[in-house]
Amino acid sequence: MQQFNRAAAALGRRAHGAAHRRGGFWRAYSARPAAVRDDAERPKVTIRTIQKLYAEGRPLAMMTAYDYPTAVACERAGVDMVLVGDSLAMVALGHEDTSQITMDEMVHHSRAVARGTRSAFLVTDLPFGAYHTDEASAVNNAIRMVKEGRAEAVKLEAGRRAAAKFDAIVNGAGIPVVGHIGLTPQTAVALGGFRVQGKSIGGAQSLVDDALALQDAGCFVVLLEAVPSLVAEAITRLLSVPTIGIGAGPATSGQVLVLSDMVGLFDRFTPKFCRGFADLGPRMASAVAEYKQAVRAREFPVEGTHTYAMSAATEDKWRAHVQKHYGLELGSAPAAAAQTLLIRPVQAEAAAAPESS
Ligand code: KIV
Repeated sequence: MQQFNRAAAALGRRAHGAAHRRGGFWRAYSARPAAVRDDAERPKVTIRTIQKLYAEGRPLAMMTAYDYPTAVACERAGVDMVLVGDSLAMVALGHEDTSQITMDEMVHHSRAVARGTRSAFLVTDLPFGAYHTDEASAVNNAIRMVKEGRAEAVKLEAGRRAAAKFDAIVNGAGIPVVGHIGLTPQTAVALGGFRVQGKSIGGAQSLVDDALALQDAGCFVVLLEAVPSLVAEAITRLLSVPTIGIGAGPATSGQVLVLSDMVGLFDRFTPKFCRGFADLGPRMASAVAEYKQAVRAREFPVEGTHTYAMSAATEDKWRAHVQKHYGLELGSAPAAAAQTLLIRPVQAEAAAAPESS
């Protein structure tokens, strides 16, 4: 406890002092510049925007997205940051956990999200295995996520033991990094499952040490997942960079949720910390069921509403053509016509080049 108090006091001084040695926002990063998004309705969110909102004490809103339509939804909602989280392995690709998703898959999804993201700041997860061996591969994969995945920042699930890798990505390659601590799903097996972290004094202190080390290494945001609110509050007050919480209570500088969880599109489980803002899963299923029913009942498509027409003159010629070559009277029995075509392949070939209209 004494150690905790000493550390907190020292770190408190640091947090309230001048710009942190490495954790400041004013470093020159090499990622996508603001000018790329010239047709945005609202100004491009940059590292400086995030810093400004944080300095003003305005809670930051981050949301996950996995493809173009989910990115567009986030963009229209005006969130500050979009995260291509590797939760997509579970909620979009149906894997049991996040450990199987590859760099190639993350790059593919990040590119799709980037196409739908105009002003929000785009962060993409480096997946399990992409930064766990050596610094060089961590940097190379971060660079690839920026170059090919069009991410503006990358997120790594790791604490102080990976400080050198964070440092190499931020200060070596100039890529903004989010550090993710607490419950780190990529290594959930080692944590004994999807469990709340930092419930003991030792565990909580360890998270504080991790958060400070990540700030020291240059992370511009520290993400806290599934930690007690009081631990998240302590970390948030000790850091001079924003914290983003998921299952970390209301005291963090901002929040993130997994989109599929909060709109009811993931049916395997919903974490306790998630609030359901919509229930789209059942609505989507009933829309598909209604469609199927309409197809069976020949209520869809409706001629004249969901269809394309020829000009009246061409239609007459086409009717005559089909009547002459196939003996069909069009317009009365479409299904029967299709069957007839199948049993008359030779005539169908002969009719391949009908008279022009
Ligand atoms: O992968 C993800 O979606 C995440 C969230 C839990 C923040 O990392």
